[in-house]
Amino acid sequence: MPATDSIKREKLFIHGQWKEGSDYTELVSPYSGEVISEIPSASTEDVEEAINAADSVKPIMRNLSSFERAEILEELVTLLKSNKERAAHIIALEAAKPISTAKGEVERTIQTYKFAAEEAKQNHGEMISLDATPGGKNRIGYTKYEPIGVIGAITPFNFPMNLVAHKIGPAIAAGNAIVLKPASQTPLSSFFLAELLEKAGLPSGALNVVTGKGRVVGNAIVEDERVNMVTFTGSPEVGKSIRNKAELKRVTLELGSNAALIIDEDTDIDSIVSRCVSGAFSFQGQVCISLQRVYVHENLYEEFVQKFVKETEKLQLGDPLSESTDISALISPEDVTRSLEWIEEATKNGASIASGGQSDGNMLQPTVLLNVEPSMKVSCQEVFAPIVLIDKISSIDEGIEKVNDSKYGLQAGIYTESISSALDAADQLEVGGVIVNDFPTFRVDNMPYGGVKDSGTGKEGVKYSYEEMSEMKLVVINQD
Ligand code: SIN
Repeated sequence: MPATDSIKREKLFIHGQWKEGSDYTELVSPYSGEVISEIPSASTEDVEEAINAADSVKPIMRNLSSFERAEILEELVTLLKSNKERAAHIIALEAAKPISTAKGEVERTIQTYKFAAEEAKQNHGEMISLDATPGGKNRIGYTKYEPIGVIGAITPFNFPMNLVAHKIGPAIAAGNAIVLKPASQTPLSSFFLAELLEKAGLPSGALNVVTGKGRVVGNAIVEDERVNMVTFTGSPEVGKSIRNKAELKRVTLELGSNAALIIDEDTDIDSIVSRCVSGAFSFQGQVCISLQRVYVHENLYEEFVQKFVKETEKLQLGDPLSESTDISALISPEDVTRSLEWIEEATKNGASIASGGQSDGNMLQPTVLLNVEPSMKVSCQEVFAPIVLIDKISSIDEGIEKVNDSKYGLQAGIYTESISSALDAADQLEVGGVIVNDFPTFRVDNMPYGGVKDSGTGKEGVKYSYEEMSEMKLVVINQD
């Protein structure tokens, strides 16, 4: 029985049925520590059942016409639009994402599913000129995209609706069945999605939601032969272990980063400073492309630091459900402790705090660090907390070198009035995306998104995920 009448005991969603778990854990609010819900821990038998369901519905999904797949996704968009407030409330509650930011995530989620509905209707093949070589004379060739089959999706806590949408939307558009394991801190968004997709007419078994802490559920998904592809967003450590276990399965990995921004000497600081503050601290810095390292031309350094700190100190800390909150709790108390340790490591070795540096309950003040060495954790690791460092550079080349001095490479930004500096940065920066005259935190949901180095492999962004979630087949017709 639930601990109190008001605490809901959630269920697994397998083959279109809501199923009790054999074991439960309490889900607590990262902000208040109060119990929000009880979450089933799926057993390996539950995961087996979910994969059976997905496997059995493969032919049905495969045979849905593009129009039918699009219609399910369009209906989901309609349902999401009429449940926006509830969706944002769920995100704010389980992730401690400030409600105004959570509302933004819901709007993006709607866009992502809209793009997926459109993608379902695109023609994804091409004609091949086989007669371009003598051996291909009188042959017609074309490619078509077919569903890959069963997709295992393992999703993170930081965008519990939209990063799930980036996996579920293209998977349905491409005609696949899915077994979804959401992050253990943010399962409610996925249960909500399952409820809406059931109403939207998705065939039973095409989406299965299995929850649990630790790696039991994820490992069972990754190691099952019937799962054809694994798509994962999370830490490099887990990403590498998935790749090692996945054998010949296709694997898409969206991993970490310590995203950086270069600011050229011709930049108007007043026009960019609030954007930079939001890139560093939005959702407490728990965004893979959060602005972590700022490299400012030395002529603007003092001005930038002073204005950045002034803007940072306007941010309001508090309850994620309050409209006036900008910064709330980190996802776990352990992350607060880790962040404070990393700040201490930096300050003990010569860095200085220009703002913040303290915790308040489960919240960490937005923290600005100066004089940080590249070897310090706050620079070379992914902080995933509201911590940013500002450093000076004497040239764009030096900035590029500093950005590239990283094991990560997801996105980087550069503000410059010089077209040649912008193009040079676009060529030289070792990242998946270069953002000119904006922060590295820029993302809209149809653009290709994915990193190099330890930031991952493969691309998301609806069209690109659709392709990763499909098998390209060649057809050759002999006209002789
Ligand atoms: C991420 O944290 O990888 C996603 C960032 C975004 O979608 O804005």
